[in-house]
Amino acid sequence: MANRSRNYSGITSAVTAAVIDRLSQREKITPLTGNVRIDGKVCLVTGSNTGLGKAVAIDLARRGGHVLMACRSGHPEAGEEVRRISGSDKVDMLKVDLADLESVHRLCDQLRHRRRRLDITVLNAGLMPRSARRSPQGYELMFAVHFLANRVLIDRLLDDGVIQPSVRGEERPRIVIVASEAHRSADPIDFDDFGAFTDYGLKDGLKYYAASKLRLCTYAHELSRRLNPEGEVRVAVNSLCPGPVNSNIAREAPPFLKLLLFPVMKLLFASPEKAANPVIYLSCAEEMGRRTGVYLHLMRERPASPLARDKAAGTRLWQVSTSLIEKHAPAGRSEADVRS
Ligand SMILES: NC(=O)c1ccc[n+]([C@@H]2O[C@H](COP(=O)([O-])OP(=O)(O)OC[C@H]3O[C@@H](n4cnc5c(N)ncnc54)[C@H](OP(=O)(O)O)[C@@H]3O)[C@@H](O)[C@H]2O)c1
Repeated sequence: MANRSRNYSGITSAVTAAVIDRLSQREKITPLTGNVRIDGKVCLVTGSNTGLGKAVAIDLARRGGHVLMACRSGHPEAGEEVRRISGSDKVDMLKVDLADLESVHRLCDQLRHRRRRLDITVLNAGLMPRSARRSPQGYELMFAVHFLANRVLIDRLLDDGVIQPSVRGEERPRIVIVASEAHRSADPIDFDDFGAFTDYGLKDGLKYYAASKLRLCTYAHELSRRLNPEGEVRVAVNSLCPGPVNSNIAREAPPFLKLLLFPVMKLLFASPEKAANPVIYLSCAEEMGRRTGVYLHLMRERPASPLARDKAAGTRLWQVSTSLIEKHAPAGRSEADVRS
């Protein structure tokens, strides 16, 4: 059973906590078998050129989904690899740098012009920079990629009708958000200084990672409430932590840390294919199309932190981020177009 008091605020404690959680947790939810099909469903997966996202893209394509890989890099080889491994030719790559809001809007324009509705949207892209860097619009990178880009992307997809809330009887679209247990270590969101760039170095990276994932988890819960106000599920918005994954997430760690970290990751972290289980469950399990506001830690349902579920914080997060989105809305998109 995962322990509420685990500390994700430093590198050693976070790795230890994640490994203990992974090794001590007995799976409550059985991973979906390959028989669960999503033939013809259109799936968008961000950050799917490598790591967890690539494993998710392969799995969704194997199940018959038409997978759109929204990636910054890996064009076209990651798409070719996903096609080859999944045995499906229904895999396309779309270019996006989620750190750059202009690029996010260009992706949305492309999706709108395709005139295909999305059935499953997996917000997976993430990073752990070695130190603070600015996005093109001047935000700290994790703030930009983990939170702001997702807020803009989903707003636009809903406004453009690319994600359409179901009307009675129709199958609900799903939004699956890859968060992290690290969100539990974060301090409450500072709304007075929301979006302000903070400089940090290696030592504090995890603190800001945790803060960005708390924003993401709070957003996931607020989005779920806003899209499903009457208790009737119209869009299934659910989030998860995949547990420790042997991926490229530590690519920016300094050489001395890589020397220690990489053997631990190889030995004790889950493969991306195994870590994809909770993402696939939320994306494809029949039951999860009828539920919203669920958080999974590995293959166990567990409430996200009280801070992430706090309704007042969710409302405030929505308000303060709306003004940032308005500030960066492309010419021709009026402020009224931004979901408020
Ligand atoms: N690894 C873990 O132990 C762990 C634990 C809990 C949660 N997670 C979460 O799982 C998710 C996937 O991470 P991972 O472990 O699979 O790491 P990964 O192997 O480093 O993959 C991260 C993906 O995100 C993409 N990405 C990062 N910045 C981007 C940007 N500006 N624009 C577009 N794509 C961008 C990367 O693209 P590029 O290759 O172009 O950079 C890559 O495809 C993340 O949200 C992470 O926070 C991971």
